[in-house]
Amino acid sequence: MNVIIESLREKIASVSSFAAACEITVRELRRLVAQFDWVGIYMRQGEELVLTAWDGPEATVHVRIPVGQGICGLAARTGETVIVGDVNADPRYLACFPQTRSEIVVPIYAKDDVIGEIDIDSDKASAFTDDDRQLLERVATLLGDLAL
Ligand code: SME
Repeated sequence: MNVIIESLREKIASVSSFAAACEITVRELRRLVAQFDWVGIYMRQGEELVLTAWDGPEATVHVRIPVGQGICGLAARTGETVIVGDVNADPRYLACFPQTRSEIVVPIYAKDDVIGEIDIDSDKASAFTDDDRQLLERVATLLGDLAL
């Protein structure tokens, strides 16, 4: 985990904009972690989450999600990481890709405010562990610090 964080920290330090840091983050996370099949970053604009960067086999139709809707909107509203082991069994889930089986959404904080989130889909059921949560919460902190 530390190797991924340190490599990301270095790469992010080499770019000059928050948008570029988001692009690097989604690309590197997907490249480095086998079960991360689709990786996106949504940023909060008022009461909506707007897709800012993504990496994966295909684009999602969910480019704007109201806070409170879907797993993404839930994480933004509560400010807490959400892990869904079986998306097909969760009525809150907004479907994007037919092959997705599980999802994790991790809020990005700047001081006390949720300014965005990292959203990852896996084609594997129950793919996300506590290690993934810890890794992604550290990545979210890197991005949140950058946004301050
Ligand atoms: N599944 C998400 C929507 C975004 S896609 O996963 C890219 C949700 O339930 O909020």
